[in-house]
Amino acid sequence: MPTDSCPFESPIATVNLCPDNAQRPYNADAVRDGAETIRRHAGEALTGLFPEGSGGEPSEAKAEVWSNWDEFSALAAQLETLSEGLGLAADNGLMSGSGGQAQGGMMGGGTGMMGSANTMMGGTAPMMGRGGSFDAAALAAMPADGVFNMIAQSCSACHTKFRLEKN
Ligand code: HEC
Repeated sequence: MPTDSCPFESPIATVNLCPDNAQRPYNADAVRDGAETIRRHAGEALTGLFPEGSGGEPSEAKAEVWSNWDEFSALAAQLETLSEGLGLAADNGLMSGSGGQAQGGMMGGGTGMMGSANTMMGGTAPMMGRGGSFDAAALAAMPADGVFNMIAQSCSACHTKFRLEKN
């Protein structure tokens, strides 16, 4: 993965993983594109970058990648589902309500929207649990930045467990 470019630059104004910390107005198309970029690098595209025996210097991959391959691939698959979900949630806009298009039918009504989104956010922890599976349809009903936050947690969950801290 190149480090000079920043493929994970967030198109969502309130969150940004890139050094320039730029703030941009919400753009559902950019969110969909970004989600698709992540999706193409997740799942088996991600695990395929880690053939058996490729650990050790200069890689930052821990030996656990291969000794605990099932969990590693589950996290890669989870990232794939989450990025699919982000693509589906792009039109929902942000939690604050800005940028979204009215999706009354799907969300069960405007006022109910935040309520159900919050409930789902409250459910994030159990959903992130080991072996927990995500449902792209449930993610599709969430605010886009809620799904994005779950993606960020998914990145760091895998890094904490499977990537060496080096500096
Ligand atoms: C399934 C596990 C897993 C997931 C999920 C994951 N990563 Fe990683 N990532 C790794 C591992 C392992 C390395 C170390 C690879 C190496 O050095 O060989 C790494 C390395 C990186 C690097 C450094 C690449 C380099 O050239 O040194 C970046 C940047 C990165 N990840 C970003 C992300 C972002 C952003 C996400 C979420 C969108 C993410 N990763 C999700 C496992 C994961």
